[in-house]
Amino acid sequence: MSLQDRLGQRAVGVSSAGVLQERLAAVGEPGAGTAHPVSAVPVSSTVMNSRRNHRRAYDPLAAVRRRAHEALLELLGPQLYEVSADDEELARRVREALPEVLSREETALTAGDRATAMRQILDEILGHGPIEPMLRDPEVTEIMVNAWDRIYVERYGHIHEADVAFMDEQHLRRVIDRIVSRVGRRVDESSPMVDARLPDGSRVNAVVPPVALDGAALTIRKFSTEPYVVDDLIRFGTLTKQTADLLRACVQGRLDVVVSGGTGTGKTTLLNVISSFLPADERIITIEDSAELRLAQEHVLRMESRPPNIEGRGEITIRDLVRNALRMRPDRIVVGEVRDGAALDMLQAMNTGHDGSLTTVHANSPRDSVARLETMVLMAGMDLPIRAIREQIAAAVDVVVHLSRLRDGTRRITHITEVTGMEGDVVTMQDLFVFDYRAGTDQYGRHNGQLISTGLRPKFIDTLADNGVSVSPELFGRVGSHV
Ligand SMILES: Nc1ncnc2c1ncn2[C@@H]1O[C@H](COP(=O)(O)OP(=O)(O)OP(=O)(O)O)[C@@H](O)[C@H]1O
Ligand SMILES: [Mg+2]
Repeated sequence: MSLQDRLGQRAVGVSSAGVLQERLAAVGEPGAGTAHPVSAVPVSSTVMNSRRNHRRAYDPLAAVRRRAHEALLELLGPQLYEVSADDEELARRVREALPEVLSREETALTAGDRATAMRQILDEILGHGPIEPMLRDPEVTEIMVNAWDRIYVERYGHIHEADVAFMDEQHLRRVIDRIVSRVGRRVDESSPMVDARLPDGSRVNAVVPPVALDGAALTIRKFSTEPYVVDDLIRFGTLTKQTADLLRACVQGRLDVVVSGGTGTGKTTLLNVISSFLPADERIITIEDSAELRLAQEHVLRMESRPPNIEGRGEITIRDLVRNALRMRPDRIVVGEVRDGAALDMLQAMNTGHDGSLTTVHANSPRDSVARLETMVLMAGMDLPIRAIREQIAAAVDVVVHLSRLRDGTRRITHITEVTGMEGDVVTMQDLFVFDYRAGTDQYGRHNGQLISTGLRPKFIDTLADNGVSVSPELFGRVGSHV
């Protein structure tokens, strides 16, 4: 989904009164907190393409911080930003020097102001600058730094512009360097894109010029400190208790499950949750681009792909890892996301005795996920006829679980779809559960609906029974009868 679309969703949030208003007001969202419809919000506070000249809320300590920063730079010199500097040593020196610097400040500061300024300056120098508080804020799920002075955050599924900025482009670059150097990576003109992780597991992507045309950009995907468990997702309305039970049966009954959805719809989170249904006595191998899965089982082997080094050598792809995993006697293979020719190896694994494997695919609908798999298999360059590819898909994949982020900001399963086989050249599918949009929205714009049964009885019930797992036929009752 484009940022513009997301911002469109945000506008919906702003226009709905009540809880969302309060939440927006609480984060200082301009124009929020009032009951005005979007059209009544002054143009300068609605989202425009360029916010560069947008005036931030008055920050009385900004000037103090800037002066203190300059004074510190003079006092401590370039060591302040040496990437290799020992963080603890640097923190000690800054803590020692700061009270002295602040005491020279002409603006009268209360004890409270002084403490706030101290903390902000420490954040700016030692931590991640103005985004440090957002990193600590459990309500923030994503931080998007489009430019040093344009920062967006996602809270409760809605995107807002944050009223903070880095001091300048250099400040943002120093923070990026600090993050990526910690994981032994670097980012510069010759390798202008980098993925990294923060110590808390948050996923970081940084892009710098010449690839990023308007200066460095940083995207941080945060994960809840405690990974979500199935009860959390039921509470959020992502799925119902009954559909959670169904997914548990599918995983325990060794069906091959593909979780599909757009960017940031919660695919990895759901994959993690359904992976928790894997029996503890099975040997599980996880394969990811950046290790995000956190499985609780003991018998888990985790593998992570590796980008090429600076000379362009040494790359280990997901595909290499899937092939290698097959030689490691896995009971189950969990692949974080297939996005290229690895799909072929994954399908082959599913079709050759590694039933019960799980993965995610970036797609816009369950049907689209089959089309995406087809395209990805073609990327493997094996020149397979389309029909053969479709047969592989139809034979391998049993269930597609599709996620969407709805207009109210919630992330929900909108389809649980069975892949039933082939008819002619077409892979046949049937929806078992779909999200009930007909239930409408409440006064705050939140969806009232949930996943309801389509009334169709899945063919995989027999496979489940063969694998010793039974599901109550009542689960697949008449349309709308399922609560
Ligand atoms: N069901 C959910 N309800 C609320 N928040 C969720 C849910 N699932 C995931 N999230 C949050 O949404 C964000 C995105 O989740 P996740 O990384 O699982 O998405 P994704 O689809 O795998 O993204 P990507 O396409 O970037 O791989 C995370 O901050 C996560 O904590
Ligand atoms: Mg993901």
